[in-house]
Amino acid sequence: MITRSANVNSVRELLQKMPKPLALVPTMGALHEGHLQLLRAARQKVGPKGTVAISIFVNPIQFDKAADLENYPQPLEKDLALCEEEGVDLAFTPTKESLYHNDHSVLIHENLLTKHLCGATRPGHFDGVLTIVLKLFNILQPDFAIFGKKDFQQLAIIDRMVRDLNLPVTIIGHSTVRDSDGLALSSRNSRLKAHERTDAPRIRRALIAARDIRKTGEQNPQVYLDAARTHLLADAPDSFSIDYLELVDAKTLQPVSKVTKPTFLATACFYGDVRLIDHIGLSD
Ligand code: PAF
Repeated sequence: MITRSANVNSVRELLQKMPKPLALVPTMGALHEGHLQLLRAARQKVGPKGTVAISIFVNPIQFDKAADLENYPQPLEKDLALCEEEGVDLAFTPTKESLYHNDHSVLIHENLLTKHLCGATRPGHFDGVLTIVLKLFNILQPDFAIFGKKDFQQLAIIDRMVRDLNLPVTIIGHSTVRDSDGLALSSRNSRLKAHERTDAPRIRRALIAARDIRKTGEQNPQVYLDAARTHLLADAPDSFSIDYLELVDAKTLQPVSKVTKPTFLATACFYGDVRLIDHIGLSD
């Protein structure tokens, strides 16, 4: 039976009675199969006697656009029913008021890995992510925290925060989960119009087409970027646009001048105001 708590003091009290180890899956809700796989990975990590906790909170301070926040799906009761089915022990579903004081004024900022990709096109986004993740770690004190690898930049900066701030938690990355047509699962997919959803696997196809050039031994980043851009834009619907397309070193997340070490080709694309991200490793 799942236990639910919506405020910081009550969840702290509940946690005192919950067995360790505890694995946390932080989410913004609108759960899909990708999240469910994170919950299953959490259970595997802590075993039948440990605690699996989920947080469901649409974190306002990580949204750079008010409309994106307003339109973010929030099917909380459905989410809780899914958690119950997955055998989650604890759902932390705080209100904004219970987490942020009106004069909240401290943010966590990562200064290197956030310079490109989503960090460049969504100003302030990762400050919001790191701040909420640190708050969740402080409140729930997990032994493990599990995040999807689709958001590889998010995962990298959380890893960096844990390392640089000596946080006593082990971060686990879980493989991206895709629909059968290749589209990476995302809570935002539900906001696509029908024709956009049919079209959206173009993102994955474009990344694969560019990645396949690697077999030729090509080292010029521009060749990969041009190929991906051509595939992304060919006969795309009017609502489609590219937010960014970048080739970065898999460790430093800085743009590369030669494709020799492992690199990620990463993109964020819009269908109207729905923003989708995906990436591919060129050493895959
Ligand atoms: O990946 C997400 O869903 C969010 O960025 C996270 C990690 C739950 C923080 O709000």
